[in-house]
Amino acid sequence: MVENIRHFLDLDVLDASLLRRLVDEAKTRKQRRRGLAHGTLDDDAPLAGRILALIFEKPSTRTRVSFDVGMRQLGGESIILNRDVIQLGRGETVADTARVLSRYVDALMIRSDSHSTLLELAAEARVPVVNGLTDRSHPCQLLADILTFEEHKGLITGRSVAWIGDGNNVAASWIHAAVKFNFELRLACPARLQPPMEVLDWARREGGRIFLTEDPREAAAHADCVVADTWVSMGDTEAAQRMEILAPYQVDSALMALAGPDALFMHCLPAHRGEEVTAEVIDGPQSVVIDGAENRLHAQKSILVWCLSGWDK
Ligand code: CP
Ligand code: NVA
Repeated sequence: MVENIRHFLDLDVLDASLLRRLVDEAKTRKQRRRGLAHGTLDDDAPLAGRILALIFEKPSTRTRVSFDVGMRQLGGESIILNRDVIQLGRGETVADTARVLSRYVDALMIRSDSHSTLLELAAEARVPVVNGLTDRSHPCQLLADILTFEEHKGLITGRSVAWIGDGNNVAASWIHAAVKFNFELRLACPARLQPPMEVLDWARREGGRIFLTEDPREAAAHADCVVADTWVSMGDTEAAQRMEILAPYQVDSALMALAGPDALFMHCLPAHRGEEVTAEVIDGPQSVVIDGAENRLHAQKSILVWCLSGWDK
């Protein structure tokens, strides 16, 4: 990997102070453009003349649109590349793709089937690479989630969050975030769908307050925020079996009542009403899922400015 390139690959490999600054910058930048039309430039347009390529190996609504709009607001431009329309989809290597795109654009974002593709892209690129979700993690989502939590409930440090369901890619990034932002994370996952051992081991080594249970009620009790995600992530197989194993992990009003009336409900979306969450909860007053989706835009703008403009030098 070329040194001194500012990749945004995962929260566990970035400094806690940088991650705090990224969230705070996102808050500030969001406030500064309140009331402006979506297509209006930010007042400083820090990425004028810059181009971001967005590579998608899997579907996306939020990531696709928020990165594209974010670049425009920052004064730059983006090019959206679905895997099937570029030669990567016909077997061109990740390494050649990285080297060639580095000659055309200033940064790359990839949503990949496999974390190793992200790492290879970053190893071979000469420009910053941003992780827009892999099978292992979803760090952009977490910066947006921290921002959302803090807008509604104040500083997340010292607070408690309950993750209910599959110990998947988003759960792994919640574990990274709990360590870096210093909050308690209680994960209720079935024995067969626990988060990856290496992520749990990392958190333990870092002194994170991460608690695992198979009981959603134990995790949710008195939590400041309850989080759910789909039971079948993109690329997962054996959907029917997952649905059966995860059936006891639906977030419903009874579970939210254990957290309390002031607890937030969060979900990265897309959601499946009647599966991981009831319509009553996700469409109810404790849900902040649409704020969370909006905050992808603000959090990612902060990431892009850090990657490309060097504001913290
Ligand atoms: N939460 C999220 O990443 O949404 P998309 O899959 O729509 O990008
Ligand atoms: N865990 C989900 C998140 C989607 C944004 C998936 O990987 O499909």
